[in-house]
Amino acid sequence: MRHSTIRQLEIFEAIARHGSFTRAAEELFLTQPTASMQIKKLTDAIGLPLFEQIGKRIYLTDTGKALQLTCREIFDSLNNFEMLVSDTQGLKQGKLRLAVVTTAKYFAPRLLGPFCNQYPGIEVSLKVSNRERILERLSENLDDLYILGQPPENLDVVSDTFLDNPLVVLAPSTHPLVGKKKIPITEIAKEPFIMREPGSGTRMAVERLFNKHNLKLNMRMELGSNEAIKQAIVGGLGVSVLSRHTLALDAAMGQLTTLDVEDFPIERQWHAVHLMGKQPTIVAKTFLEYLHEAAGHVSDVPCRFAEMAGACPLIETN
Ligand code: PGA
Repeated sequence: MRHSTIRQLEIFEAIARHGSFTRAAEELFLTQPTASMQIKKLTDAIGLPLFEQIGKRIYLTDTGKALQLTCREIFDSLNNFEMLVSDTQGLKQGKLRLAVVTTAKYFAPRLLGPFCNQYPGIEVSLKVSNRERILERLSENLDDLYILGQPPENLDVVSDTFLDNPLVVLAPSTHPLVGKKKIPITEIAKEPFIMREPGSGTRMAVERLFNKHNLKLNMRMELGSNEAIKQAIVGGLGVSVLSRHTLALDAAMGQLTTLDVEDFPIERQWHAVHLMGKQPTIVAKTFLEYLHEAAGHVSDVPCRFAEMAGACPLIETN
C-alpha cells in the first residue's frame, strides 16, 4: 500500500463516487485503459479486490468501501492543508462543497454571487435536493456545509441559525378566502391541498402543525417541486403551504397570494449544519461568517434576495 500513489487513490475515489470507470476517466482526463491499469496496480498492492462487477454495474467490496472512507479523509486533510497554506499567504482559496434543501435554492445561489465576487479563489459546488437526500449526504459526510430548514434529530451536528424561514398558506389571487382576516386553520383543512413529496422538510413541518391540531388535510395531489406547486395553485387545483422564499421571483406576478390564517406563518429558520466531529475548513468558516453578515442586512428576505445579483463560478450537480 505504501507504494500506491495519491494519483491511484484519486482515480479509485472518482470511480467509487461515479460507480463507473468511464465517467471517472472523463473527469480526470484519462483514458479508460490508464485508469484500469492504475486500479490494477492499487488492487495488487492491497492484495484484495476493491470492486466487483455484477452485470454491467460495478459495486464496491467491503475493502473498497473502507478505502473510499480513507480516501475522503486523506483528500479532506490535503484540502485543509492547501487552504491553510493559502490563508497564511493572505489568500482565501479552496473548495466549498455546499448541499442545500430544495427550498433554499431561492436564496442560496443568489447569496453565492457576492460571496464568489468577494473571494474569487474559492470554487463553490452546490448540490440541491430534498431534505431526506440532503440528510443522507450529511450522514455520509460528503459536503462541507448543509443548509436545512431544521437540524436533524438523530445525528450529532453543529447547527448555526442565520435567517428566518416563514411557511405561509398560498392560494390563487381569485380564491374566496383572499382578504379575510384570521382564517381558522380548520378552513384550510377543508380546501383541496397540494403537498410536497415525502422526504420534504416543508411537508414535515406542515404535517406536524396539522397533526398538532388533530386535523387531516384534504390532499388533492403531491408534487416534488415548489415551482410545480405554485403553478398548480395558479391553475386552481388547490392551496398549499410553502416557504415565503418561494415567492421571491414571482410575488409581482399577482396570480398567487398569501392567506391570513391562524397559526401561520409556521416560524422556521434556516440552519447551516455540519457533523459534530467535523472541523469546518477555513473556506467553510469564511462562508459561515459571510452568511451571518449577508442575512443580518436583510429586512424583507424574499425581496432583498431577489434583488441580489452576481456571477458565480457555480458547478450545479443533480
Ligand atoms: P424541503 O426542505 O425543500 O425539502 O421541503 C425545506 C425545509 O426543510 O424547510
